[in-house]
Parts: sequence; structure tokens; C-alpha cells
Amino acid sequence: MSSIKDAMSCFTTGVTIVTTHFESQDWAMTCNSFNTVSMDPALVLWSVAKVALSNRAFTKANGFLVNVLSLEQKNLAMKFSIGSQADRFRDEPIERMSSHRAKLPQSLAWFDCEIEQIVSAGDHDILIGHVLDFGVTPGVGLALSKRQFGYIETASA
Ligand SMILES: Cc1cc2nc3c(=O)[nH]c(=O)nc-3n(C[C@H](O)[C@H](O)[C@H](O)COP(=O)(O)O)c2cc1C
Repeated sequence: MSSIKDAMSCFTTGVTIVTTHFESQDWAMTCNSFNTVSMDPALVLWSVAKVALSNRAFTKANGFLVNVLSLEQKNLAMKFSIGSQADRFRDEPIERMSSHRAKLPQSLAWFDCEIEQIVSAGDHDILIGHVLDFGVTPGVGLALSKRQFGYIETASA
């Protein structure tokens, strides 16, 4: 018998680490619910579980920064999904943006966003962000399909 999670995991996604700065502390979590929404204005979204310890930080802070992970950052995906916030950032170099949010070097792309809207949806909150700044680095994206990490072979990869 397949679960709804099994079915949802068949949808191949990229993998991101979303950060925020709240009450003088860095917060981060691995997230594959990230998606693009609108080009003009530039809007993106992701959803954070209501039970996540970091939910309050992400929903009360005025913005978030999405790091789109490259294949080389595969180890960060698990590191930023478990343990304390201090353990997640331990030994990881970060770049501090003018928004105070943390950017991870070598991310394939990044989007620094202010919160545009929060939608309560079942057991998650959907955070829609207005992109204030962004950047791109050459590399290959980390992909997730059926709970396995990998990458998508493209002509440019
Ligand atoms: C590949 C991957 C993708 C994930 N995507 C999400 C997501 O989109 N939203 C979410 O709330 N949790 C997601 N998680 C789980 C969170 O990373 C994890 O529950 C969170 O870091 C727990 O920390 P916290 O309770 O301290 O906030 C994902 C985990 C992994 C490994």
C-alpha cells in the first residue's frame, strides 16, 4: 500500500536551504517545497511545517533567503534538516547579506526575499516571498526524487 507521501515523492524537485535572521539568531532548514510563482513582480514560495521548531522564526521574520543547492552541497541537505540550529551552521562558512540573512557559498542560485503573504494550508504555512535580490553560480543542481538525491542530466550539465 502506497502512502500519500510515496506518491508526492515521485515529483522530482530541486533541494534548497532556506535561512532567516530572527531575534538576533540564524535559522535554516532544508526544503524541497520551494517553487517559483511570478516573474513580474518576482515572487517565490515554499511551505514550512507548522510543527517545525523554526516555524515561528520563518513566519515572524520579515523575510527569508533561499539557497538552491548544487550537487556539491549534497551533504548540507541532511545536515540542515536535523539537530539544533547551532549544529546546522557549525563549520559552515556563510555570507551575511545586507538583510542580515545568511547565504551559503557555492549555492547554485539564491533569492533574498521579503514576505509578501503567508497562507495557512493544512499542516503547513505557505510563505510567498517578493525577491529583493538574487544571484547565480555555475554548477549542477541537486535533485530529489523518491527520497533519493541525484541530478538531472542536461545538455549544459
Ligand atoms: C530533502 C528535504 C526536504 C525537506 N523539505 C521540507 C519543506 O519543504 N518544508 C518543511 O517544513 N520541512 C521540510 N523538510 C524537513 C525539515 O528540513 C526539517 O523538518 C526541519 O529542518 C526540522 O527542523 P526544526 O523543527 O528545528 O525547524 C525537508 C527535509 C529534507 C531532508
